[in-house]
Amino acid sequence: MNSSVEIAPAQGKLGILLVGLGAVSTTFIAGVLAIRKGLAKPIGSLTQMGTIRLGKRTEGRSPRIGDVVPLPGLDDLVFGGWDIFEENCYEAARTAGVIESTLLDAVRPELETIRPWPAVFDQRYVKRLSGPNVKKGKNKKDLADQVIADIRKFKADHKLDRLVMVWCGSTEIFMTESPAHQTVASFEKALEANDPTIPSSMVYAYAAIKEGIPYANAAPNLTADIPALLELASETRVPLAGKDLKTGQTLLKTIIAPGLKARLLGVEGWYSTNILGNRDGEVLDDPESFKTKEESKKSVLDYILQPKLYPDLYEDLCHVVRINYYPPRGDNKEGWDNIDLVGWLGYPMQLKINFLCRDSILAAPIVLDVALFLDLARRSGLSGIQEWLSFYFKSPMHAKGLYPEHDLFIQLMKLKNTLRHLKGEELITHLGREYYD
Ligand SMILES: NC(=O)c1ccc[n+]([C@@H]2O[C@H](COP(=O)([O-])OP(=O)(O)OC[C@H]3O[C@@H](n4cnc5c(N)ncnc54)[C@H](O)[C@@H]3O)[C@@H](O)[C@H]2O)c1
Repeated sequence: MNSSVEIAPAQGKLGILLVGLGAVSTTFIAGVLAIRKGLAKPIGSLTQMGTIRLGKRTEGRSPRIGDVVPLPGLDDLVFGGWDIFEENCYEAARTAGVIESTLLDAVRPELETIRPWPAVFDQRYVKRLSGPNVKKGKNKKDLADQVIADIRKFKADHKLDRLVMVWCGSTEIFMTESPAHQTVASFEKALEANDPTIPSSMVYAYAAIKEGIPYANAAPNLTADIPALLELASETRVPLAGKDLKTGQTLLKTIIAPGLKARLLGVEGWYSTNILGNRDGEVLDDPESFKTKEESKKSVLDYILQPKLYPDLYEDLCHVVRINYYPPRGDNKEGWDNIDLVGWLGYPMQLKINFLCRDSILAAPIVLDVALFLDLARRSGLSGIQEWLSFYFKSPMHAKGLYPEHDLFIQLMKLKNTLRHLKGEELITHLGREYYD
């Protein structure tokens, strides 16, 4: 057995700070409250339902993940957050329209107590949104200080032991690294100078990381994925994860593409389109926010199929992704994929997928897992990019010069091996010679 990592116990309360109390956040919070009351099951959550094999296949040891690594119980979670709308969490969940009213009413009193703090918001970065619940400040440094004050007050009011922050706000416009993003010093100077290359999401991420709080990004925004915030995370020993939750169509893509490649089936074209009618769909109807999402959604096939290694199979792949805002469907997204395949001797085939999913129902368990695993990472002394949490993201954060791992099954193996490593259990290579020698 390898030596285990010292993990601090999951004592006391864990505060989960959510930026944006929209469809994903309210489905997550209401879901946790309903599960606590025994009204529903945490389906889709690895931390709540997943098991992990330890040792050899012959040993028959497959405990629940929560029994192997110390995670907080659902009763120990406390929720708080910011939004540009003043609605409390119950009203916001009604607006999102994901959870039906009988279940929502069963947790109504708790949801009503969660009122969003005024947000750091600037419409330059999310063109299709505007709302009244917004902070005022003399510059972005002042706004970051106000976020830190909210966090400290929340921690004191609820006697919290630890915190994590998850950005569940809208997708911001497409941005790339600027000179201000290069070092902590240049970033802090830029905050004071109200530099336009610092969008609202970076102000929250800076506040969290500065406070030593683990941070995850559920959206594809650049946010914490810049050298300055990575440097700050290394100083404050903060674990980071992101970007963009891997839920509907991209989840299926990263399940199917590795299978096609494993059998060396060629792919000539992959056309993906969606209809979506929630607020996320409305925000993504703006071309500048859509570009951020498109980049995130399109990157997966290139990395999984490796056209440079397999030019005969994937070099000319035409990959198109569309999202169409269509209000009648609300949060119930419908995705279509047409895949043009090529088999033996170049014979063409087609695969069609029609996924009638529920966006936030797929996202909520992931928010729970990411929050609990980031808290575990912090208690285990892990900091910086947590590649083992790639499993949950469309555009996994990765070290410079390294390509991201998109294959869902490799990602899961990486995640479980990290848990084995933390506990000093043998890593599983799947070699399996020992059963035959
Ligand atoms: N399956 C999924 O639902 C899924 C998957 C991957 C990524 N995402 C991303 O997660 C994010 C949330 O999705 P959603 O469906 O909950 O969207 P939503 O529009 O219902 O909620 C987003 C909320 O964030 C708020 N907001 C925006 N900017 C803010 C700011 N600067 N500060 C505070 N609040 C702010 C909005 O007012 C809104 O209430 C989106 O960026 C979406 O692209 C969702």
